[in-house]
Amino acid sequence: MSISRFSVLKPSTPDAIFALVGRYTLDKNPNKINLAIGAYKDEHQKPWVLPCVKQAKKIILNDPNDNHEYNPMIGIKSFTSAGAKLILGDNSSIIKNNSISSVQSIGGTGALKLGFELLKRAKPSAVYISNPTWANHVSMIPEANLPLKYYRYWDTKNLKIDFKGLLDDLWNAPNNSTFLLHACGHNPTGIDPTKEQWKEIAEVMKKKNHFPFFDCAYQGFASGNIINDSWAIRYFAEQGFEMLVSQSFSKNMGLYGERVGCLHVIYPKIQNTEKIVKLVNDHLASITRSFYSNAPSFGAKIAEKILTQPDLREQWYKDMTTMSGRISNIRKELSKRLKERGTPGQWDHFYKQIGMFSYSGLTEKQVVELNNKYSIYFTKNGRISISGLNMDNLDYFVESVDKVVRTIH
Ligand SMILES: Cc1ncc(COP(=O)(O)O)c(C=O)c1O
Repeated sequence: MSISRFSVLKPSTPDAIFALVGRYTLDKNPNKINLAIGAYKDEHQKPWVLPCVKQAKKIILNDPNDNHEYNPMIGIKSFTSAGAKLILGDNSSIIKNNSISSVQSIGGTGALKLGFELLKRAKPSAVYISNPTWANHVSMIPEANLPLKYYRYWDTKNLKIDFKGLLDDLWNAPNNSTFLLHACGHNPTGIDPTKEQWKEIAEVMKKKNHFPFFDCAYQGFASGNIINDSWAIRYFAEQGFEMLVSQSFSKNMGLYGERVGCLHVIYPKIQNTEKIVKLVNDHLASITRSFYSNAPSFGAKIAEKILTQPDLREQWYKDMTTMSGRISNIRKELSKRLKERGTPGQWDHFYKQIGMFSYSGLTEKQVVELNNKYSIYFTKNGRISISGLNMDNLDYFVESVDKVVRTIH
């Protein structure tokens, strides 16, 4: 027997969410609730295949010309172009002038990875992320050998954006820093800046010559409206910012495991656009080649059909309203029932937040108690995936929270 060369590896921290889901699966309590994972479930807690996705799959399967050939390194052009139009709008001058480079990615995570790699090649400055943020941001940036910094985002006491802290951190960061901004449905807090706040953010970023990298993982899922949810990106583009946008179709099309996404590099006002677009496209192709050659086809073909065929697109809008409508009803009911019960604390934030997640304001001790005593599973920072609640388990959740906040402080 020889010693494995991998025995030198230091233990790696397991993903907290997947660990929770593992324990949830083994839990025998019939009332158990899973509020950990960020994937939409319908009112019966079942995964939902969107009707528009079912229709798109039929079209692909019946297409006699469909095949399984390799795609170009930067992906299926008709898909990435449709993705760019979704972000910027059909009439965007940026699209008309071809001032954009787009590459297909393995979901939104893959798009972020490609973006960090491109930044590393071009402009290795620190990347500022919101505090708190989605856990993957925290691990991906050092992995790309880029310095990781935080900007303030969440006011723990008042359960709202710490806007003054955010602006101060924008001012105090060295000029030309990169700021990773959540386009909508901020994960984990569920609170986005208002339009007025976005305008102020843009103004400071312009003065400081900061570089925006938008992470857009919930367009249409957050508010049910694709235009509302891309407002900040479109505003920054109008303001002339060169920027990166990572785009995911995991949540808004429910294509989680198919890994569908794009990275867009947007250049509203630059010199030698044609030359830069070609240069960046070539780098994006070389980055994807070095990682995995090219992104998978099937999910991207589904998304392309939905984005480009008017009847499927209409259906998609309805499907997104179904998902965001259910989430928003639960939010309202949750606030209402906690308030009716007189549960100590303030609960309005549940319906003021949008998207998949809510920062509940529950403390780590309270989360642990909810888990150990009531079999309710969510992360220790108090983040709840609203989709894990429905009209059947809501009362159990509310009663459990009520008991816990009265006993554990
Ligand atoms: C903020 C944020 N960015 C990106 C993603 C990436 O999504 P995916 O890689 O599943 O497309 C997620 C998913 O949870 C997210 O919450």
